[in-house]
Amino acid sequence: MWNVLCLLFWVFAWVWVQSEAQQNNFPFRCLQISSFPNSSSSSTDGLAWLGDLQTHRWSNASDTIDFVKPWSQGKFSDQQWEQLQRIFQVYRFSFTRDIQEFVKMLPNIHYPVEIQMSAGCDVYSENASKSFFYVAFQGEYILSFQGTSFQKAPDAPSWTELVIKVLNGDQGTMETLQWLLNDICPKFVHGLLEAGKAELEKQEKPEVWLSSGLSPKHGHLQLVCHVSGFYPKPVWVMWMHGEQEQNSTQTSDYLPNADETWYLQATLDVEAGKEAGLACCVKHSSLRGQNKIRYGKHSPMGIIFMAVLVGLVLICAGCYVIYTKKHR
Ligand SMILES: *[C@@H]1O[C@H](CO)[C@@H](O)[C@H](O)[C@H]1NC(C)=O
Ligand SMILES: *[C@@H]1O[C@H](CO)[C@@H](O)[C@H](O)[C@H]1NC(C)=O
Ligand SMILES: *[C@@H]1O[C@H](CO)[C@@H](O)[C@H](O)[C@H]1NC(C)=O
Ligand SMILES: *[C@@H]1O[C@H](CO)[C@@H](O)[C@H](O)[C@H]1NC(C)=O
Repeated sequence: MWNVLCLLFWVFAWVWVQSEAQQNNFPFRCLQISSFPNSSSSSTDGLAWLGDLQTHRWSNASDTIDFVKPWSQGKFSDQQWEQLQRIFQVYRFSFTRDIQEFVKMLPNIHYPVEIQMSAGCDVYSENASKSFFYVAFQGEYILSFQGTSFQKAPDAPSWTELVIKVLNGDQGTMETLQWLLNDICPKFVHGLLEAGKAELEKQEKPEVWLSSGLSPKHGHLQLVCHVSGFYPKPVWVMWMHGEQEQNSTQTSDYLPNADETWYLQATLDVEAGKEAGLACCVKHSSLRGQNKIRYGKHSPMGIIFMAVLVGLVLICAGCYVIYTKKHR
């Protein structure tokens, strides 16, 4: 009965999960966080991710960039990696010095100064990629690198123009930056995608459990469906009553687990006493069409009905919709 409908419903959801998966092209993002509490102290830390997996970390205290994954060097040779690391060491040193110079030069900037950067590239296919480079000052986006030069963000303070003029005037830095973003980054990411393939394509099944508590609304209960331990990220979770999707289901943000899997919860507010027959339905690529369903505690139909449902679940498990895995 409703499981069959749940299955039909799942076909829709599956299309959605799949289209999400196709967009999931593993952007490579490097984040830099630089703090300048005063004119004599500074600290710069770096992190890099491929998709939602962390690949590198670079602490201010260290001269070398740490590999978080065994495949973090991608397909670069030791020599290529050494060369790249030297470029970043020089960059980190010059960056610190330049910011301190800028603060001296610009009368309306005062310590403490906090600078964040996000740079990297998104590789779509063998020859197609897009790179990006954004800079934030005191938590506000102020400038980006676009093609061949730095550009001011629409709401950035006017002194940003002076900074951009200085940066764009430095031919050597501009050429190095273009080379890193448009040439090295896509090459490096191709290597990472190849070396890390097994881990990037891992499929971890969700655990599903239910809990309930009092709702802030008087006489109402809050039913919570917890979904944890799944990978990759796209998941579909819905409270159902019979075949009916409960569209007042509230889904939380995705929260990371420590083991590089995800957690999410779906909450439904119901009138106390009306919770019978509600179930939580979960669809995820790792389940290969076998939805996980958790029933509420008080199924009114009793054991016989449950037996019928179990039978239907088994039948439905046979109705696979063919999923052709779209490998990149
Ligand atoms: C600068 O900031 C650092 C770190 O917060 C602090 O230890 C140091 O004493 C400060 N120096 C001055 C001159 O204020
Ligand atoms: C960060 O590294 C620089 C260069 O090695 C050093 O001078 C500075 O004191 C470090 N900052 C902190 C907060 O440790
Ligand atoms: C990518 O570019 C190379 C060299 O420019 C070319 O030989 C190759 O066919 C291109 N591949 C695709 C999928 O377009
Ligand atoms: C929820 O579902 C009901 C009945 O199916 C529909 O009338 C209502 O517009 C839906 N609400 C939302 C927010 O989609």
